[in-house]
Formats: sequence, C-alpha cells, structure tokens
Amino acid sequence: MNEETPALHESPGERLAAGVERRWATVVILIMAVIVVVAAFAGIHQATMPQAQVETINPTRLHLGGEFVETNLGSAVEPNGAVTVRAVGQQYSFTPQCMVVPTDSLVTFRVASADVIHGFLIQGTNINTMLVPGYVSTIAARFDEPGDHLMPCQEFCGVGHEGMWAKVRVINRAEFMKMAESKLRLTCVE
Ligand code: CUA
Repeated sequence: MNEETPALHESPGERLAAGVERRWATVVILIMAVIVVVAAFAGIHQATMPQAQVETINPTRLHLGGEFVETNLGSAVEPNGAVTVRAVGQQYSFTPQCMVVPTDSLVTFRVASADVIHGFLIQGTNINTMLVPGYVSTIAARFDEPGDHLMPCQEFCGVGHEGMWAKVRVINRAEFMKMAESKLRLTCVE
C-alpha cells in the first residue's frame, strides 16, 4: 500500500509570495545590469575618469603669501583674454565681498577656504561647488547677460552661516576691459 509522504505543499499565499519575490529579484538584476552598462559606457566611450589631479593648499597660511594673498584676490585678465577670479571663503564672509566678471568671456573661479567647509553657489547659474579646506576649488563659467547674482554660502559652517554671502556682478566685456586698464585686480566692493 502506498503511503503518501506528507509533501511540502505550499499554501496559495506562500506561492503568491514566492512569485512576487522572484519577480522583484529579476527587476533588481535588471537594474544592476543597466547600472553596469551605463558605467561601462561612461568610462570607456566617454572616457569619464576621476580627476587627474587635485590642487592642495595650506588653509592656515593663505593670507601670508602665494596665490590667495589678499592683494591677489579679485578678477584678473589673462594674456589670452580669459578672466580668472580668485576668492577666499572664511567664517563668515567671502573675500572679495563683490566679484566682478565680464559677459561673453571664459571666467575661471579659483577659490579656497581658510578654515572649514563652505559652499560656493552663484544663484541663477549652475555653478555650485564646495570649498574644502586644504584644496583649491576651480570652476569655469560663462555669463551671457549683465546683472547681479547673489552668492550665498550653502554649506552649514557655524553660527554665522546664514550671514555668509557675497555678490557676483556681470558687466559688459568692453566696460570690464576698460576697468582692467587701470587696475590689475578688479572687484565691485564699494
Ligand atoms: Cu560658510 Cu556656510
């Protein structure tokens, strides 16, 4: 006589749960496959790589000499007509407080922090980076229209964080170049 062994019969609920789990596992594997393909495409086809170099700087000695000494801050015209803006962020202000840049020009911001992490964000543009003590933050930009942009610090940096902001003033290139004839470093600090 055949005695039926008590087989492991699944209840309908268990079967449904197993089905849902299998489906979800398939979705996860597909998501991972897409991520691998996108990463491989970016790395191989578009040659996306980690930054080749980082520029380091001693945050405690910025004011004593070198690129970020106070007399060197502001906007400078390079021999090729491009403009470099150098600035420092510290608790709780930016120096210079008002940066002036020309329209229709390659503008490179080079900014360092003298103490803690600050944010560097120019409203109305997609310029947004962090100022990490020990490193130089470099960001390239181009401004089409004259006008004023607020530049609030957007990384919490201490009790005075809310009051830490500067301004970026975009003026016509011709006007900017006229200003640059008489001064090596330009700002709009009044
Ligand atoms: Cu500096 Cu917030």
